[in-house]
Amino acid sequence: MPGPSEGVVWLKRWLPVAGQQVLAARCRELMEGPAGGYVPTVRGGGKMRVRMVCLGRHWNPLTYRYEETRADYDGAPAPPIPAEFAALASRIAADAGFRVEPDICLINWYGPDGRMGLHQDKDESAASIAAGFPVVSISLGDTARFLFGGLRRRDPVEPILLESGDAFVFGGPARLRYHGVSRIIPGTSPPALGLAGRFNLTFRRF
Ligand code: SIN
Ligand code: MN
Repeated sequence: MPGPSEGVVWLKRWLPVAGQQVLAARCRELMEGPAGGYVPTVRGGGKMRVRMVCLGRHWNPLTYRYEETRADYDGAPAPPIPAEFAALASRIAADAGFRVEPDICLINWYGPDGRMGLHQDKDESAASIAAGFPVVSISLGDTARFLFGGLRRRDPVEPILLESGDAFVFGGPARLRYHGVSRIIPGTSPPALGLAGRFNLTFRRF
């Protein structure tokens, strides 16, 4: 596993179970509320294998751009990022050695068949990426087999098991590394969360 000097920090079990319960309840509310989660259709016409809700700005899966409203779906405005979410992500980033105030959060819900193909997070502003502001990820519920690759799609990938409460941060020279989720391992969520699946939150600074 690459380390902090390379811009990659894996904070295992960063969030205790009590905090996971609170965060999972908020994610569930946002996913099920008005302007809640939907299964995006991507550029080629395929459906993503996650349910997504974007806070702060909406990531449009057809244009790969951030927008104020969900132009690809129902035109609803992206809900604001809750202050406590941004604060949580800043704390994680600080523990990983980064200073950043994220202003976007993508929440993805993975059911038992959820997955996400290998991709780069590169739709934030050029200034943000040049500054190396990290992507801050936090996982809740079932364990995911997360694939972490290199700067080129063909580079080898390392499989990592991201468990509930784990934070994973990649910034600086690692900011554009390829990553994805090959599978979810059902039945691995802490029972206290009552989740049959996985929430993943990724925070970024536009
Ligand atoms: C993502 O890359 O957007 C999600 C990563 C994850 O689910 O761990
Ligand atoms: Mn990503």
